[in-house]
Amino acid sequence: MMVVYILASLLMSCMLHGVWATPLDDYVNNLDPTYSYETLETFQGEGYTLYNINMTSQSWIPDLQSQPVWWHYLSVIVPDKILIKGACFLLIDGGTNRDSPPKPTDNFVRLTTVIAATTGAIGACLKQIPNEPITFKEDPDRKQRTEEEIIAWGWKTFLENQGADPEILVELPMTKIGFFHSMLSISL
Ligand SMILES: *[C@@H]1O[C@H](CO)[C@@H](O)[C@H](O)[C@H]1NC(C)=O
Repeated sequence: MMVVYILASLLMSCMLHGVWATPLDDYVNNLDPTYSYETLETFQGEGYTLYNINMTSQSWIPDLQSQPVWWHYLSVIVPDKILIKGACFLLIDGGTNRDSPPKPTDNFVRLTTVIAATTGAIGACLKQIPNEPITFKEDPDRKQRTEEEIIAWGWKTFLENQGADPEILVELPMTKIGFFHSMLSISL
C-alpha cells in the first residue's frame, strides 16, 4: 500500500511537471547559486600540474541538518601534454569535512596522478561524497552520522512522510556534484 502511494505521488509529481522527470532530474537540473570553487594550492610534478581545489557544490536542506553547504576537496591533475582531448576521468574518494587538504602522496590522489600522467588525460580525485559527519535536527540521539547512516536516515524519513520530500534522500545531492565545471575551467 505504501509503495502504491509513493508511486502515485511520484506519478502525480511527473504529471504536474508536465514531463516524465524524476525528483532526481529536478534536483540535479535546478541551478544552485551556491556552486563555486577556489584553488587552495598548486603542485608542479614531472609532466603534470596538480590543483587542490575547494569546490562548494550546493546547499542541501539547510533547515534539517548540520551541513547546509556542501564542499569538497577536488584534486585535479592536468598533464603537460593533453593527449586525450574532450574526455576526462574522476575517482570518487571518501573522507570527512574535518580532513586537511589531500597531499599529492595520498593513495588515491597518487593513483589519479599516475593514470592522468601516463594516459595524457585530465583526471580528478573528488572527496567528501557525501559531506560528513552530519547531525539531523530531528534525530533524537543527535548523533554525528556518516555514510550509510545518512542514507538510512533519509530513506526512513522519506517513507515515514509517504514520499512527500525526496530531497531528504542524500543520493540527490551526491549525484548533483558538478565537478566537471571546475575541471573544464581549469583546463582552458
Ligand atoms: C571550503 O569552502 C567552504 C564554503 O565556502 C568553507 O566553509 C570551508 O571552510 C572551505 N574549506 C577550506 C579547507 O578552505
